[in-house]
Amino acid sequence: MTPVRVLAVASEVYPIIKTGGLADVAGALPIALKAHGVEMRTLMPGYPDVMRLLSGAEEIRRWPDYFGGPGRLLAGARDGLDLFVLDVPHLYERPGNPYVTADGVDWPDNGVRFAALSRIAADIGHGLVPAFVPDVVHAHDWQAGLAPAYLHYDNRPRPGTVMTIHNMAYQGKFSRELVGSIGLPWDSFNVDGVEYFGGISFLKAGLQLADRITTVSPTYAREIQSDEGGMGFGGLLRERASVLSGILNGIDISVWNPHTDPHIAYRFSAEELPFRSANKAALQQRLGLDPRPDALLLGVISRLSWQKGLDLLLKAMPTILGDGMQLALLGSGDAELQDRYQGTARGHPGRIAAVIGYDEALAHLIQAGSDALLVPSRFEPCGLTQLCALRYGAVPIVSRVGGLADTVTDAATGFTFGPVTSENLSAALARASLAFHDKPAWRQLQLAGLATDVSWRNRAGEYATLYRDLVASRRTA
Ligand code: ADP
Ligand code: GLC
Repeated sequence: MTPVRVLAVASEVYPIIKTGGLADVAGALPIALKAHGVEMRTLMPGYPDVMRLLSGAEEIRRWPDYFGGPGRLLAGARDGLDLFVLDVPHLYERPGNPYVTADGVDWPDNGVRFAALSRIAADIGHGLVPAFVPDVVHAHDWQAGLAPAYLHYDNRPRPGTVMTIHNMAYQGKFSRELVGSIGLPWDSFNVDGVEYFGGISFLKAGLQLADRITTVSPTYAREIQSDEGGMGFGGLLRERASVLSGILNGIDISVWNPHTDPHIAYRFSAEELPFRSANKAALQQRLGLDPRPDALLLGVISRLSWQKGLDLLLKAMPTILGDGMQLALLGSGDAELQDRYQGTARGHPGRIAAVIGYDEALAHLIQAGSDALLVPSRFEPCGLTQLCALRYGAVPIVSRVGGLADTVTDAATGFTFGPVTSENLSAALARASLAFHDKPAWRQLQLAGLATDVSWRNRAGEYATLYRDLVASRRTA
């Protein structure tokens, strides 16, 4: 196995900073890749949480003026991850969510903030850190999308580049004025470069200029080649179909392990599924739900955004209430959805519970204690909560899109429905309810879920193969 060195570039890395599944992937993949002979280091911005957790990191470069203020490149290790941190206080030393102000609007200088991240990634690609000269630079999502672009326009020998799409909906769009101020040549500003409808899109830059494109499930890789699923990039992706592939996400099975999970009331293994009932009782008690073992308890752990289809679940409420089910929802995001769920919970005490916020420990208890986990997304590049559910014996009920379609098999490991409408969701809930009241049938679903491989082991191998093929193809080119 020839060793390969890869620089990953990501704006979030679990357990250091996380707003969604991107962090989970960026935090777990480097560790899983070790077994495949891939040495990965990850470059991330020096947000306050990152600086706090990496207080002992070593300074390897310093600049008096990096995109308008002093900056440093640090190297450090944490939680089994080798990290480069770009510490530029005037860009990243801001509290809270990495992308938005306290009022929830995008920071006005996001273009510069993430151009700076990509610029340093390209420089590391060119050998800025002699101890780690990568064979491949792997950019995740729009925040890293300019890395392949800088490497392309620098016109020097360069490493191979991979762009991974975790979500087509976030495209990193800015006005054309940005181009000159972030050190891209003006000849990059055209349809074959970074230009997109008169402005610049960082995601487009990566999709157009990376050597390889991946996304996080085979079905999403197909969906984004359509005009609708491509959200503006369908044509580009159809043209680049020969270098586009889908590699399913896994989950970190040491973090998500019902046998050792410190956050749940009662730990269990596949042979001890009846013990899940203690977690169900604990969850009902914690959320003020009626202590009913016989009620089908549905769980939801989600960002509250249009993508996730949770407005459709509100419309399916008559089915949930009429059929005697319970609902435990944990989520945050869209203010209107938050209000509507809180209102529904107030109207149906003991039956519906909505916790608004981000709570990792509660997420684990919901996986261990709910009977079924719902993911009614309109689109879903991969989705991670249904993978955790499979491992925890919560039967997933999911829409048949993207990675949900690739990871849940209808009537075998869970229930799937499509097209994504509240009527079809209601019908899937009714089917699940029938199965739930047939104990052997339900146990069969749970056991089939528990037997599903949701780990990174084989999926990391697919990335390793991709990197090696890319390095080999560039050598012979
Ligand atoms: P996305 O990245 O689109 O938000 P994923 O399913 O890929 O969706 O990943 C979401 C991740 O965030 C999962 O690890 C899930 O457990 C976690 N998560 C989402 N919302 C919450 C919340 N409110 N509290 C705790 N964890 C959450
Ligand atoms: C995105 C997607 C989600 C995916 C995650 C990690 O946030 O919405 O489906 O699982 O990235 O790849």
